[in-house]
Amino acid sequence: MRHEPRAPILQKSSWGDFHLLRIAAPEMAAEAGPGQFLMIRTSPGSDPLLRRPISLHDAGDGWLEIFFRTAGRGTAQLAAKKKGEALDVLGPLGQGFRLEGAWKAKAAWLVGGGRGIAPLFFLGRRLKARGARVKVLYGGKTSAEVPIAEKFEAAGLHPIVATDDGSLGLKGFVTALLEKELAAVKTPPKALFVCGPDPMMEKTAVLALARGIPAQLSLEAIMGCGFGACWGCVHRIRREGEGKWRKICEDGPVFAAEEIVWGEG
Ligand SMILES: Cc1cc2nc3c(=O)[nH]c(=O)nc-3n(C[C@H](O)[C@H](O)[C@H](O)COP(=O)(O)OP(=O)(O)OC[C@H]3O[C@@H](n4cnc5c(N)ncnc54)[C@H](O)[C@@H]3O)c2cc1C
Ligand code: FES
Repeated sequence: MRHEPRAPILQKSSWGDFHLLRIAAPEMAAEAGPGQFLMIRTSPGSDPLLRRPISLHDAGDGWLEIFFRTAGRGTAQLAAKKKGEALDVLGPLGQGFRLEGAWKAKAAWLVGGGRGIAPLFFLGRRLKARGARVKVLYGGKTSAEVPIAEKFEAAGLHPIVATDDGSLGLKGFVTALLEKELAAVKTPPKALFVCGPDPMMEKTAVLALARGIPAQLSLEAIMGCGFGACWGCVHRIRREGEGKWRKICEDGPVFAAEEIVWGEG
């Protein structure tokens, strides 16, 4: 874990409540993997006191990107930052997505709901670069809640979109889109990577387990420290037949579908 107290903001884009920041952080960028996250100080003072966890949306030569939705005070402060200001960040943190089988098998599906799409861009780019056939399923409540569909398109990741109100793509939940896509293929994907609200992830895990598709899911929790010190982020995880409280920040945030005990976060 590295600490960069003054990472300059190089670029900023906004779509309503959603924001994308690119920061300069060369050492972190060199180590970053898809599914890892940053802990970001959003205010120079003590309101809020705690850093906020935000996934790595992308990484390149000397830079990192984050994509986030305003949820409360911390993310509103982050959204107010301008190009040229600096961010105080810790990272990269956590155990991200494990890619091994996915690009060898060459068929990986990425399923993102709302702000949960954030880590899947970096993952999709990396899988594609390693020769995988990547399918992206991207859901939100309305067309305004899938603001980076075009960014995926521009990266050659061609997302299939679902919105609850039907204003863009299939009308319905992204899990319904996943069921439809699974029903349409002869050979199921060899890997599913998922991030979104808990009910969406639980449903996706059930679909994957029922079909024997290996799935990795990125869990969320309210985090105190982000690096294993406070036990504020535990979730019940079943490994070697035994369910234990594990730290999402340190043992995750990415876990296999069969490991996650739902409803005990
Ligand atoms: C590993 C990890 C990666 C994340 N990556 C992203 C990302 O890439 N983009 C993004 O937009 N968000 C992401 N989040 C969620 C983000 O951390 C929260 O939205 C943020 O901390 C809220 O802070 P706030 O001060 O704005 O809101 P607060 O005022 O603290 O809270 C506002 C509301 O959001 C709820 N809330 C706060 N934190 C969480 C949380 N972690 N999960 C669910 N509900 C929460 C609170 O209960 C409250 O109802 C991630 C969370 C984790 C744990
Ligand atoms: S957030 Fe402190 S232990 Fe996970």
